[in-house]
Amino acid sequence: MGRLVAYFSYGGVTKRIAEQLANELDATTFEIKPAMPYTRADVNWQDNTSRNVKEYKDVSSRPEIMAYLI
Ligand SMILES: Cc1cc2nc3c(=O)[nH]c(=O)nc-3n(C[C@H](O)[C@H](O)[C@H](O)COP(=O)(O)O)c2cc1C
Repeated sequence: MGRLVAYFSYGGVTKRIAEQLANELDATTFEIKPAMPYTRADVNWQDNTSRNVKEYKDVSSRPEIMAYLI
């Protein structure tokens, strides 16, 4: 059975790790993209009112994504 490493990354850190992991596992990668792209202000984790901090704190948060595998 094939392996898949799915990742969600804004700045590229998670993407790089996902690609290294996929390489080790001989897996393919899939980038999960948000339907509404994040701006720089959205990802300011030091601002409690930013989109990503609000989503992080809300355990029920499920941002719409752009595409599904199946
Ligand atoms: C709620 C929240 C808290 C975060 N806290 C930290 C932190 O304490 N230290 C840090 O370096 N990055 C923090 N970050 C930033 C990201 O986790 C970090 O920059 C990550 O490497 C970004 O991955 P990416 O490049 O794949 O988007 C935080 C992000 C969020 C949403």
